Formats: sequence, structure tokens, C-alpha cells
Amino acid sequence: MKECKHLAIIMDGNGRWAKSKGLPRTAGHKAGADNVRNIAIAANELGVKYLTLYAFSTENWKRSADEVGYLMKLPGYLFNVFMPEFMERGFRIRLIGDIDGLPEGTRKVILKAAEDSKNNTGLNLIIAINYGSRDEIRRAMVQIAEEVKEGNVNPEEITEEMISSHLDTKEFPDVDLLIRTSGEQRISNYLLWQIAYAEMEFVKESWPAFTPEILAKCLDEYSHRDRRFGGRNE
Ligand code: IPE
Ligand code: IPE
Ligand code: MG
Repeated sequence: MKECKHLAIIMDGNGRWAKSKGLPRTAGHKAGADNVRNIAIAANELGVKYLTLYAFSTENWKRSADEVGYLMKLPGYLFNVFMPEFMERGFRIRLIGDIDGLPEGTRKVILKAAEDSKNNTGLNLIIAINYGSRDEIRRAMVQIAEEVKEGNVNPEEITEEMISSHLDTKEFPDVDLLIRTSGEQRISNYLLWQIAYAEMEFVKESWPAFTPEILAKCLDEYSHRDRRFGGRNE
């Protein structure tokens, strides 16, 4: 069975899920946060070691102040309610994205979850928040440019590994499987560098309706894919 070490998910469709039930968009986001717990537990049980979830993009600030405000409070809800269970299961909370650009309350809550779980050795539950892949690459470029300026690195010494080691994901392996819910077939500025050879699956269910059974099906399909990485599998 081909192992999916790093699973990344674009949790899309909360708004449409709520609309289909005659509920406000915020109810969709709440149901989406509850589902983070269910899917993290299921992914862990299915052998995933790194689960990266797209919670808020650098482009999501374009939404109404009300919706953005609600989304910024969700980590507080998530960790308040589910952190004891995450700790019990040994989950380690990790963060990617421009954390400094978040409101103070949100930043504190997520940094605390990461700090409290830093000695755990189970599933790495990676929250992408205020995350944009182009922004992440830009921030890495700034760091590398500084190192060149200081004379610590020659431009011709810049390797792919060096670029990887300046990204927010530096401690994680490349993505094996990317799943997007809700039928949209696009990447929306997610992990562009890290998905170079990832397998992709687009499922029609919205994120709040994405169940452990659907996840298991996705991982089963993944296990039958023929990954070649540019080589040949004779
Ligand atoms: C995903 O659901 C959650 C975030 C992007 C924060 P959406 O809010 O994008 O829901 P749709 O795509 O409008 O249905
Ligand atoms: C991607 O979903 C971002 C998150 C799931 C956090 P969007 O709903 O923001 O993406 P687009 O706008 O449909 O591409
Ligand atoms: Mg969407």
C-alpha cells in the first residue's frame, strides 16, 4: 500500500453548504471547524503523518469584515473545544502562513496551541492561516537575499533544498496528496512549491459534508496511483 505521509486539503464550500441548508455562511464555517476535528482524527487513524489544512488565504481578506471577523475567531473555538482531545491523541499543532499579519487574539490562540503541543510526536496538524504560497515564496526570497547581501551565500550556491529550507514548510516533507472539496478544480495559491509532484483529487462534497469514509476512499484511490516523479516505472 502506497503511503500518504503528507496530505493537504483545501477545505472549500462552507458557504455553499450553509446556503443549501438556508443557514448563514458563518454556520457553514462553524460546521467546517467541527469537521476539522473529525477529519484530523480519521487521517491520523489512516496513517497520515502530516495533515495541512487551508484555513484562511492571503486573499480571503477581500471578504466582508463580518465574515473575516468570524473566521478569525474560529481557531479560538476549535482549540477551546478540541485541544484536550488533540493532546490526548498526541497531535502536534503547526502553523504556516504570515502569522504576524493576524489579529492579536487569533495569533495568541494559535501560537499557544502550537506551544502546548510542541513535544507531541503524533500527527502534525498543520494549519495554513493567512497563508498564500506566493507570499510564502516572497518571504523566503527576502531571507535568502539578506543572506547573499551579508556575504554568507553566493547566488550560484542557491539550491532547491535551500529554497525549501526557507519556506514555512521547511520541517515537513513534500505533499503526497492534495484534496479539494466542493467541486472546484483549482489550487487558489496553496503550497505551489510543495505540490510539484503531488497527486490531486477533487471531490464534489463541500467541506462540512466531507466524511471519514470519503477520506478513506480518497486515500485508497491514491494508493493505486502510479507516481513516476519524471522517471519510468517498468
Ligand atoms: C471555505 O469555504 C472556507 C474559507 C475559504 C475560509 P468558503 O467560504 O470558500 O465557501 P464557498 O466556496 O463560498 O462555498
Ligand atoms: C481557498 O478557498 C482558501 C481556503 C479554503 C481557505 P477560496 O474559496 O478562498 O478559493 P477561491 O476564491 O474559490 O479560488
Ligand atoms: Mg470557497
